[in-house]
Amino acid sequence: MLKGKDIINTAQFSPQELNLIMNTAANFEKQVKDENIIRNMEGQVVATLFFEPSTRTRLSFETAANRLGARVITVANPASSSVAKGESLADTIRTVDGYADVIVMRHPMKGSAQIAADNAEHPFINAGDGAGQHPTQALLDIYTIRKEKGILGGHTVAFVGDLKNGRTVHSLGYFMALYRNKMIFVSPKALRMPEDISADLRSRGAEIEETEDLKKALSVSDIVYVTRIQRERFEDPAEYEKLKGSYIINRALIDQAKKGITILHPLPRVDEISTDVDEYEGAAYFRQAHNGLYIRMALLALVSGRV
Ligand code: NCD
Repeated sequence: MLKGKDIINTAQFSPQELNLIMNTAANFEKQVKDENIIRNMEGQVVATLFFEPSTRTRLSFETAANRLGARVITVANPASSSVAKGESLADTIRTVDGYADVIVMRHPMKGSAQIAADNAEHPFINAGDGAGQHPTQALLDIYTIRKEKGILGGHTVAFVGDLKNGRTVHSLGYFMALYRNKMIFVSPKALRMPEDISADLRSRGAEIEETEDLKKALSVSDIVYVTRIQRERFEDPAEYEKLKGSYIINRALIDQAKKGITILHPLPRVDEISTDVDEYEGAAYFRQAHNGLYIRMALLALVSGRV
């Protein structure tokens, strides 16, 4: 169903494809835990091109490729590639396409994922395109919600933080709409969810509320998805200084939230979740990061037709 396909954004998926991805991830999770040797991608080469900083996304993609028996070629630092010499994205991708069987890329420019995919014959996976989309993160987010909550739909989900620049919430919003979850967008006015995305989600039937009142949102939410203020997207550092620390979730706040609330965060966190929350049993963000491995194994295997 996904063989040869590019992964660009979350609006592209059918419910059948999402089920396939999550079930494949669950199978790989079991196989890794059973210490099975997995050879689905033996003989294949996966390229990971990261033109923006990353810890989890790059390392989990590379671990996924390694666990599947593939080999990895990587650009972890743009200064070390010919992009630093002024090479165009199209030319870089055309070149890498001649070496690798699957290309994974993160790039600071919104829209770069589509440009790259258009220049590659092999399957291309978007690992974050600027303030655009981050579909593989949203896939691991719903995989985590399914594991933590048992079901994917019918929840009230608060999105908190930098909803303007955060690509993770842009991507996850589409899945939340698809599975009929109510969304509460909590942000400072300057960092509201872009109007075009809210309108698109509403046109898909999503129920959305917007507020600046975090405490109130937490009192009615089953899940809170916290995001970092995206410092690197600010033109004016003073504006970042003004907005950082707008919302900080600490243990006292969680103790007043809806009982059983699940806390998600794509990570890295700066100061938006205090470390005293980490011991709370619904604090799922490190489990969430771990789940990324299985989702990325599933994606690599599916797009390369090796399932
Ligand atoms: C996110 C990203 O890169 O968009 N990180 C990640 O992939 N887990 C979130 C962020 O950087 O704030």
